[in-house]
Amino acid sequence: MFAFLLAGDNVELALMELKGALRAEVGEIEVEVHDRVAVVEGLTDEEAERVVRRLARTHAVYRVGEGRVRVEIGGERRPVRLLAEREKLSDRKPHKRPEFMPDSTEPFLARVLVNLAEARRGERLLDPMCNVGGILIEAGLIGCVPVGVEVREELVERTERNLRHYRIEEYELHTGRAEEVDEILDEPVQAAAVDPPYGRSSYIEGGPVERLLLNTLDALSEVVEGKVSLTAPVDAWEEVKESVKRVEGEVRDRVHGSLTRVIAVVVP
Ligand SMILES: C[S@@+](CC[C@H](N)C(=O)[O-])C[C@H]1O[C@@H](n2cnc3c(N)ncnc32)[C@H](O)[C@@H]1O
Repeated sequence: MFAFLLAGDNVELALMELKGALRAEVGEIEVEVHDRVAVVEGLTDEEAERVVRRLARTHAVYRVGEGRVRVEIGGERRPVRLLAEREKLSDRKPHKRPEFMPDSTEPFLARVLVNLAEARRGERLLDPMCNVGGILIEAGLIGCVPVGVEVREELVERTERNLRHYRIEEYELHTGRAEEVDEILDEPVQAAAVDPPYGRSSYIEGGPVERLLLNTLDALSEVVEGKVSLTAPVDAWEEVKESVKRVEGEVRDRVHGSLTRVIAVVVP
């Protein structure tokens, strides 16, 4: 039995991420939650370690039933032994990457989106608005093949520099519009992650953001075989969720005082 210690102030999001990573690495498996501890049975040590290494919102995984430290699980103090900790992601914050853009997705959110989309190693993950590749870097580092589309050509070149810096060698990049990905890509992708522009100074073509998202999801429905994870301002999400085939999960995430976004998983 393993105990994953969830991190951050949004436990619901941490749990959704853990379930996505478990599905991607081992398949459908039950998770029992006690406050910040998610208990999972039926994993091997190697699987539990692989899962925690790809997570952003989990501190570590422990084996339950051995060791000297005790943790309260379901009202009982159980002995646990540390098996593995999550990877350190802060070294890849946008300003620490070779190519910096202030609106590039930061690594903690990027990892969450990759896990929510349940991208498996060797599969192609698309970011249709890839900026300088924040999501694509995280996808590449867990063994996916990153596929990026971005409307600003200069950013496509800079994404390539970022990917090469992190020694990600297999990738596919295109200059173009997210709403036209179905015409841009020759081959399907298995998963996609979308973090559209909605900050005050963000650059947008085909906006407002709800229109861009609606048209992008429409195009994604032609090229994505699996799931799409996305972020959206609350108002835009209310409109967008009506248009997709299925909503697999949604959670509100407070960014700062005046901005709450929705992080969701859909089948477009
Ligand atoms: C918040 S950033 C995305 C960050 C990116 N996901 C990452 O991992 O760094 C939004 C991006 O959408 C791009 N964009 C705006 N309109 C677009 C469109 N119609 N098609 C494709 N990209 C677009 C912007 O140029 C910007 O780079």
